[in-house]
Amino acid sequence: MPALDIAQEQEGYLTPEAMTEVAHALNLDPGYVEGVATFYSLFHLEPVGKHRMYICTNLACMLRGAYDILAHANHAIGVAETGEVSSDELFSTEEVECLGACEYAPMMRLDHAYHYDLTPEKIDALVAERRQGKRTKHRG
Ligand code: FES
Repeated sequence: MPALDIAQEQEGYLTPEAMTEVAHALNLDPGYVEGVATFYSLFHLEPVGKHRMYICTNLACMLRGAYDILAHANHAIGVAETGEVSSDELFSTEEVECLGACEYAPMMRLDHAYHYDLTPEKIDALVAERRQGKRTKHRG
């Protein structure tokens, strides 16, 4: 799984070629590697946004408004449906199962960090920070 994670970091998602490379590097059957990649929801086989919002909609988060947060996040990044990539290719959202921080519901993983007790305002701030980061990067 760490090898697939590293491979995914290269393109943002796992291409068939990347999975084959991982299989060869680890001396594993390519079918086994593909099986691992398709089993875990944190691996993507299609292009995704640069910043991925993994929003938990499991019970504790759902009871504390996770679906409103998900809808707000989709609106904030300008997509109609969960899973779409924003037009600037910076963001995509994904519904995930429990992330193990139920006491801080609703919560999400954004890239490699967890964000707790989410509100629409927190979502807006996180999106704005990352969009600002993009502008800063292009100026530099
Ligand atoms: Fe959302 Fe557990 S239900 S983190």
